[in-house]
Amino acid sequence: MRIDIITIFPTMFDGMLSCGVISRAIKDGKIMVKIWDLREFAFDKHKTVDDKPYGGGAGMVLKPEPLIRAIRKIKTEHKRDENSPFVIYLSPQGKILNQKKVLELYKKKWLVLICGRYEGIDERVMRFVNEEISIGEYVLTGGEVAAMVVIDAVCRYVKGVVKEKESLLKESFMTKFLDYPQYTRPQVYMNMKVPEVLLSGDHKKIQLYRLKEAIRNTYKKRPDILHNIRLSKLEKKFLEEVITEENRRRK
Ligand code: ADE
Repeated sequence: MRIDIITIFPTMFDGMLSCGVISRAIKDGKIMVKIWDLREFAFDKHKTVDDKPYGGGAGMVLKPEPLIRAIRKIKTEHKRDENSPFVIYLSPQGKILNQKKVLELYKKKWLVLICGRYEGIDERVMRFVNEEISIGEYVLTGGEVAAMVVIDAVCRYVKGVVKEKESLLKESFMTKFLDYPQYTRPQVYMNMKVPEVLLSGDHKKIQLYRLKEAIRNTYKKRPDILHNIRLSKLEKKFLEEVITEENRRRK
């Protein structure tokens, strides 16, 4: 997986690229991340990357020339590579990122992430953009944090980045339901006990318990998910039990 980032704040990425799973994946050559300082692509000696909007209005707009020069340079730098990159502009107006979209982006294998600032970027840059992506319905001061979210979520799919293969398939948003609750040692803490069934060693029972608790978690935290999916007979039975139990608990 290759990711190129265009930003006016390259150092913002230092933390995420030098810690944990992502830094290991970079060291192991599983992912390649290159940061491009937009100012390096400015024409003038002051390295101007922004200007006032035509037609008036508040704030500044990122100029088209440095951005387009940067995109073009990135494309030519890996010309030997047969693929061309998928260019993303991070913006609050984009398509909302979800797990399905993350998987789609992972499959592109080469992403260019454009981090906007100020009031946005000159519209003419959009001709070089394949998709506009938002990480949620709120406005950040720039696209850098959003780019980090995309990198983190996408890189988890790269082979060998997340150790347990199973965890990628079983986690929330890849299955129908949210995750079941997890426990680790100690068995009893502040009078709170780990559910008996998890200590039983009976794998079938544990599987059924986890399915029901995943349904409970979904019912309690994201009931909207349950309205949009088809349930098996067993899942329906568990959901009915969960609803009865939770109603009783509330009384
Ligand atoms: N830039 C500013 N706000 C953003 C958001 N919500 N998602 C992506 N990029 C952004």
